[in-house]
Amino acid sequence: MDRIKLSIDRVFGFVSQEAIASYAAASAAANESLHRATGKGNDFLGWLNLPSSISSADLDEIESSARLLRSECEVVVVVGIGGSYLGAKAVIDALSNSFEQLQGSRKGHPLILYAGHNISEDYLFELQELLKTKRFGIISISKSGTTTEPAIAFRLLKAQLEEQQGKKETQRLIVCITDKARGALRTLATQENYKTFVIEDNIGGRFSVLSPVGLLPIAVAGFDVRALVQGAVEMEKDCAPDRAFEENPAARYAAVRNELYKQGKKIEILVNFHPKLHYIAEWWKQLYGESEGKEHKGIFPAAVDFTTDLHSMGQWIQDGERTIFETVISVCEAKHRKIIPHSEDNLDGLNFLAGKHVDEVNKMAELGTMIAHVDGGVPNLKIELPQLDERYIGQLLYFFEKACGISGYLLGVNPFDQPGVEAYKKNMFALLEKPGYEAESKAIKARL
Ligand code: PA5
Repeated sequence: MDRIKLSIDRVFGFVSQEAIASYAAASAAANESLHRATGKGNDFLGWLNLPSSISSADLDEIESSARLLRSECEVVVVVGIGGSYLGAKAVIDALSNSFEQLQGSRKGHPLILYAGHNISEDYLFELQELLKTKRFGIISISKSGTTTEPAIAFRLLKAQLEEQQGKKETQRLIVCITDKARGALRTLATQENYKTFVIEDNIGGRFSVLSPVGLLPIAVAGFDVRALVQGAVEMEKDCAPDRAFEENPAARYAAVRNELYKQGKKIEILVNFHPKLHYIAEWWKQLYGESEGKEHKGIFPAAVDFTTDLHSMGQWIQDGERTIFETVISVCEAKHRKIIPHSEDNLDGLNFLAGKHVDEVNKMAELGTMIAHVDGGVPNLKIELPQLDERYIGQLLYFFEKACGISGYLLGVNPFDQPGVEAYKKNMFALLEKPGYEAESKAIKARL
């Protein structure tokens, strides 16, 4: 198996094969519409052919910048929020040692930390305390350059770096990823002479993981961005409009979730049995939530880590309101082997497992859970990854992006805008009395 594999057999007790097959024409039309740029949001389709359009020279530039940060820094802080950090964190966590943070940071193998994805004063204080004794660098990522959370974090960290290293040295240790010409971060980067990478105008944040937004931090963490891109290119081909519905995983995933939604399955739970995949689910939640949750429509994207959450959310999933379906990301091969030992006294009664490796037990938990959930009224989709490596993760990322575009069009929304995100910002600025928000300030304060 050299591809990730989507299995949909376990939805057929809930929706018919005919119903899914009937989506062939509509999903092909949606796919065509993406490629011909005739649908809603067609000015944000730069991600569509991004994997195959990344040149070796582009990757050379990313790798050379990554090499510099790796060789110079013990810690690299990725500053960004939403689509400007989730993809990088998802891939880095999926590929890293589970205890990376405790392995000790050193030049040549910097620890990747994150900032600008919250407005917690304690988080920022504690991060800055830690960085006082570290040689650190910053990758500041913001397409607009004015997003409040990363802008606050970058102000603080830039000032700290200048204080610790001096202005000249700081120039080498900051890389900005922002839009080509407009925007505050572009102006600042030009003014300070920082190395920059461009987020193209036609790529939205949540579709940007395969651009420098994701690739630079992933390369700094020491992972093979060429293999990641290769995997994405493979999936770009497999999900192209010329692929028949039955062979096109993105089209089939989009069809199944739309049909389940029509049948009242309003919540999709992305399940993993591998804690390293937690942030893949966080990235996926943004991708689908921000793309489809509009016009009072859209599947609610949720996520759980199994078996951990079987001991907390398992009851609800098995027995609660029957409005859910689940998509399991299954990793076929664990990277390491751990054999369960025999115990003389067998107090826990687990000697029947002695001699098995841990992943065998995990796989039976996965199978048993799937059967229980299907029996309990939860349709099941499965995406298998042969192993957790750059190439298969690249395939997975592009598969989800392409399916999201098709699925949004099947739902009838614009998958590439996010008008709802502005509401909290408007209120926050009114409450903080941002210049220009005088009327909103007055109105909101009258409501308190
Ligand atoms: O997907 C999106 O558009 C958002 O999540 C943005 O990426 C996020 O709000 C950050 O925006 P910016 O990169 O402009 O700081």
